[in-house]
Amino acid sequence: MSSVANLIPLDHVDPALVEALLDRAFEPERRTRTAYQLREGLEALPALSFAALDGSDHLVGTIQCWPVGLTDPAGRAHPMIMVGPVAVLPEQQGAGYGKALMSAALAALNPRAPLPQVMIGDPEYYGRFWGFTAEPTAGWRLPGPWEPRRLLVRCDNPAVLPREGLLGPWRG
Ligand SMILES: CC(C)(COP(=O)(O)OP(=O)(O)OC[C@H]1O[C@@H](n2cnc3c(N)ncnc32)[C@H](O)[C@@H]1OP(=O)(O)O)[C@@H](O)C(=O)NCCC(=O)NCCS
Repeated sequence: MSSVANLIPLDHVDPALVEALLDRAFEPERRTRTAYQLREGLEALPALSFAALDGSDHLVGTIQCWPVGLTDPAGRAHPMIMVGPVAVLPEQQGAGYGKALMSAALAALNPRAPLPQVMIGDPEYYGRFWGFTAEPTAGWRLPGPWEPRRLLVRCDNPAVLPREGLLGPWRG
């Protein structure tokens, strides 16, 4: 079982090791996913991106967060945090690393002005533990294919979220 003590900033880890872990956690076509188009050309936000180490200090999981924006029909861009990928090595899944990584990233958000967090993931996991929901995203669009039930958002006040818009990298 992991603990917060086993989490370190992701930029302390060799990027090649992070890529190797993502290759093991996801299918090889992962780079063609819509989520990758959303963060194309961006650097992960260092303060919100973490690595999980096991008791022997081996890398077992990662989380990255990215600056994205939802451009509403009036052309106004609303800044958001894109969460993910969250990845845990297959043989270490179910031991609490995913929960520890997600909770660390969400806890690191600016508490005075947390931006809405958006992600593409299973509502059964991200809804159950952190309250992500697909309801407010029904009118949102992405630059590639997506399953509407898996486009999730988490926000203190969902009433402020635009009902329609196109998600993309934040160019503010
Ligand atoms: C999804 C993932 C990050 C979860 O991390 P994890 O360390 O395995 O999960 P945890 O140990 O923190 O949580 C385990 C709990 O979550 C549940 N859970 C895990 N993945 C789930 C999913 N996709 N849907 C529903 N529930 C899920 C487990 O059933 C377990 O529930 P329990 O506590 O009632 O037994 C990990 O399984 C993974 O890397 N999967 C492959 C990559 C992926 O799909 N990433 C998510 C998209 S960005």
